[in-house]
Amino acid sequence: MHPLRFGVVGAGSVAQRGILPHLSMPDVRDRVLLNAVCDPAPGRADAAAEKFAIPHAYTDFAALLADNTVDAISLATPIGMHYAQGKAAILAGKHVHFNKSMTTTLAEANELIALARSHNVQLVASPGEMNRPHNQEIRRLIQAGAIGDLCWAVCGASFGRYHENEEFRLGNDPLTNIDPSWYYRKPGGGPLYDMTVYALHGLTGILGPAKRVTAMSGVRIPQREFRGTMVDCDADDNTLILIDFGNNVYAMAHGTPAGSISEGFSGSYFGTKGSIVGLKLNGEPLRYPGSDIADSHPDGRWAGNQWILPEVGTAHRDIDEHHVYADIMQLVTAVQHGTPAVASAQHAAHVIEIIEAGLRAAESGNTQHLTSTF
Ligand SMILES: NC(=O)c1ccc[n+]([C@@H]2O[C@H](COP(=O)([O-])OP(=O)(O)OC[C@H]3O[C@@H](n4cnc5c(N)ncnc54)[C@H](O)[C@@H]3O)[C@@H](O)[C@H]2O)c1
Repeated sequence: MHPLRFGVVGAGSVAQRGILPHLSMPDVRDRVLLNAVCDPAPGRADAAAEKFAIPHAYTDFAALLADNTVDAISLATPIGMHYAQGKAAILAGKHVHFNKSMTTTLAEANELIALARSHNVQLVASPGEMNRPHNQEIRRLIQAGAIGDLCWAVCGASFGRYHENEEFRLGNDPLTNIDPSWYYRKPGGGPLYDMTVYALHGLTGILGPAKRVTAMSGVRIPQREFRGTMVDCDADDNTLILIDFGNNVYAMAHGTPAGSISEGFSGSYFGTKGSIVGLKLNGEPLRYPGSDIADSHPDGRWAGNQWILPEVGTAHRDIDEHHVYADIMQLVTAVQHGTPAVASAQHAAHVIEIIEAGLRAAESGNTQHLTSTF
């Protein structure tokens, strides 16, 4: 089996904190060769190539696609670029890992899925939340009736000032002066496509595909300050989506500037005989495969859950973005062994439809029926 030869597109925060360090570890070399990096920001691709000993650096995405030493790419560019770049990569015969979100519309997602099939390439779409042992256990418990008849659930995420304060944005050289403004602009900006997407992958992975959505949404914080400059924000940042799972089971998902009523990006589930709130079943800590290892993390169980993801051996524990690495390795396994990825493009497409339809419902005032499934 030859190693899968990777190009990383976008050498920004997630690439530098997670993708490039993980993929350049010695223990993955029999399965992955990090062969190229691409970024148009002056000096960034060259600097990343030098730091991580990557043979090819490009400022032009088309040049990377023409590189026949690259079999697969990880798209670590702003979300609004993923559809066009993913399409070009598929047409060039490359396998693609999408950092979340894969696209911003269901139509785009469906087009990419069909194109990948006809071009015989594999897609993996982050976030692979159902790779997490606690989510698998929550699904099993709910299906086994551990909390009685499920009635409702809640999940979501808030932006805070997370992206303005990320470590690779506050320096003065090409690797550390990365502007986060795209996170606040359409298309692809806002907490829904960036953060709530984790919560929705968990929610739908546990409860199955949803049927309908309705929502209220708008821009609550029209300007943000980054390094002394005001950034205009036009992507909705304050959204509450109501989701109908059928059989009168409902959920609420939020993508907001601040605040949370759930833990981390995880959901809380309420039934006639009990509840699962974050990582607790009826107030007691959940047990799931690896939970003892997770508990041994100095920062607690949520942080420790990163350690027990598939593929994250002890050598990878101290590198950030373990889940992104785990998802990339699913692409490697899909290509090398034909094993379908848990982080499937079909699941991502359904979550993208919930977000897109939620925004449409908010604008129109009309409940939206969902068409996708996974
Ligand atoms: N930042 C995080 O914590 C985080 C975590 C997990 C996943 N992600 C996802 O990773 C992706 C990237 O996020 P980020 O925070 O690293 O963004 P970022 O803004 O830090 O970096 C994006 C990089 O893409 C480059 N870029 C712009 N246009 C390009 C082009 N045409 N071709 C190649 N590169 C181009 C930019 O110059 C920049 O270096 C997003 O999908 C995001 O949702 C981010």
